Amino acid sequence: MAQKSSFLKQMGLIVLIATLIVLVLMLLENVRTRQAEALQTHFVRTPLTEASVDPVLWAPNFPHQYDSYLRTVDVERTRHGGSEAFQRLDEFPIYKELFAGYAFSIDYREERGHAYMLSDQRETERVHKVAQPGACLHCHASMYSVYRDAGRKAGVPDPKDPKDFEAQLMKGFDVINPMPYHEATKLANHPVACIDCHDPQTTELRVTRPGFFDGIRALATSTEPLPHLPSIERWRKGDKKVAYDPNRDATHQEMRSFVCGQCHVEYYFKGSEKRLTYPWHKGIDVAAAEAYYDEVGHTDFVHTVSKANVLKAQHPEFEMWGKGVHARSSVACADCHMPYERVGAVKVSSHHVRSPMLNVHKACLTCHAISEQEMKDRVTIIQDRTQELLHRAELAVMDLVYAIRDHDQTQTEALKVARDMHRKSQWRMDYVAAENSMGFHAPQEVARILGEAIDYSRKGIMALQAKP
Ligand code: HEC
Ligand code: HEC
Ligand code: HEC
Ligand code: HEC
Ligand code: HEC
Repeated sequence: MAQKSSFLKQMGLIVLIATLIVLVLMLLENVRTRQAEALQTHFVRTPLTEASVDPVLWAPNFPHQYDSYLRTVDVERTRHGGSEAFQRLDEFPIYKELFAGYAFSIDYREERGHAYMLSDQRETERVHKVAQPGACLHCHASMYSVYRDAGRKAGVPDPKDPKDFEAQLMKGFDVINPMPYHEATKLANHPVACIDCHDPQTTELRVTRPGFFDGIRALATSTEPLPHLPSIERWRKGDKKVAYDPNRDATHQEMRSFVCGQCHVEYYFKGSEKRLTYPWHKGIDVAAAEAYYDEVGHTDFVHTVSKANVLKAQHPEFEMWGKGVHARSSVACADCHMPYERVGAVKVSSHHVRSPMLNVHKACLTCHAISEQEMKDRVTIIQDRTQELLHRAELAVMDLVYAIRDHDQTQTEALKVARDMHRKSQWRMDYVAAENSMGFHAPQEVARILGEAIDYSRKGIMALQAKP
């Protein structure tokens, strides 16, 4: 009996040791594959070229980036943002009055994920009730090859070095800008795609948007200090014989914001050629853009009630980010909106571009050592305060509009001053309203701008009250 039990014990020990050995081997194998995976940042299977427009062609090589890119279809609302395309005009009826006389008073929605950019533009009442140009497509579709095809047709041949695509691209831009929207949109097939942000050979980041090339060059030649854009400061110190070129001169970290700054910016269509233009000639500041518009005599619409020449602001995220402490600390758009995430052992940039409030852990806590709840609370404080001040500014603008409407219409001098003040006041209020972070990207700058908006409304009303 004793012998048998010691035999069993021995057998048990052997089985145990064997199991342990197998487990250790399995673990080692697992570590080895993880290590191999970690080295394998991309899986070269299909060769990619400048003709690889459809993102699905990139999927075999970059399955993780492709998967997360597809997830921009997700719809989720946050306190002040997110991606539910609700009608802002129903949520905030005052905007119908603020934009009276303009297409934005017909249809104005909350924006959503990149996957929808082309279909949302095709569907908005703003392209059905108003004639729009092909220039609208610049920021709502994969336009890189569409521009190049149009440039080639217009006589600019393919370059010897594939990197010298700009001449052909710019020619296509000239051709497509003035086309009627409904015609031009037939040329586009995808929302923003891999090829718009990446060189297909090297996958390095690149900018491909004509409006951005023009805009950033105008900005480089302005005198506004740009401490958050070191490559421009460097270029300014040189002989400036060759124009600033973001693809040649920008740092890697700057490119992580430039790719977004191609579209998330204030713009207008210049002249009868409808050239898409970013008003950065005098600087990137809210007042610099206004000074530019004043100089070229640009107005977006005449307000039906006040008869003032009003400007409409649109999504100045790149500009506002530049005024905040994050840009000053070299934190890029991609750091918060495309944070790294682990897939197995691989570290990839999340291409599910969305509100960082849905992803605070990865988007913020890599740098901020506080709890997720505390981080969210801090953002809420900034955004709620901004919204409160913004509402006051909206009411202040409308007070001025009604004061102009009710004033003695023979006092043309006073009315002229008041209308100028309406233009200034609404431009600032709208600059904050149209910026999509509800103050987060640059809280102090936003408060300063809204303070000015309220002050200009007050000055307009005072001009009407002055004894003639
Ligand atoms: C430090 C982090 C950070 C940086 C850097 C940053 N953002 Fe944001 N962004 C945020 C936060 C936080 C919000 C608010 C999201 C919300 O309210 O749900 C936001 C909101 C937005 C929104 C609206 C999102 C929504 O869901 O409505 C857009 C668009 C946006 N940012 C674009 C940009 C661009 C473009 C840049 C660079 C030029 C940039 N952001 C830089 C943190 C950042
Ligand atoms: C400079 C780039 C750019 C151009 C040009 C541009 N858009 Fe947009 N558009 C954006 C960005 C960025 C957003 C998302 C942020 C937002 O909604 O504020 C957007 C959002 C939208 C939306 C969804 C939200 C809404 O406002 O209802 C529609 C619709 C739209 N654009 C239509 C148009 C039309 C029509 C034109 C031409 C008149 C146009 N866009 C030109 C960049 C652009
Ligand atoms: C080709 C132009 C273009 C580029 C480049 C671009 N965006 Fe957008 N972005 C848009 C448009 C247009 C929308 C609105 C789409 C809609 O509402 O249908 C949008 C929407 C967004 C949103 C709102 C998403 C949501 O779920 O509500 C965020 C955040 C955003 N973009 C951030 C970025 C960041 C960060 C980058 C750079 C990595 C970037 N975008 C590059 C045009 C662009
Ligand atoms: C709006 C611009 C934009 C688009 C569109 C885009 N990317 Fe990226 N991508 C980025 C940014 C920003 C990074 C971060 C790059 C860096 O820091 O080097 C990145 C990084 C990458 C990387 C390097 C590894 C990593 O994950 O950081 C790969 C590979 C990549 N993207 C593939 C793709 C593919 C495939 C698509 C299309 C399905 C795509 N990208 C679409 C902006 C974009
Ligand atoms: C790559 C690093 C990095 C990331 C990612 C980052 N931050 Fe920051 N954040 C900073 C730095 C640096 C400062 C400047 C203060 C300092 O130097 O300590 C700062 C400052 C702030 C402040 C004070 C703001 C002010 O205007 O004074 C807030 C609030 C904040 N961050 C929130 C966030 C949120 C929310 C996110 C995610 C959406 C985020 N940060 C992502 C680096 C980062």
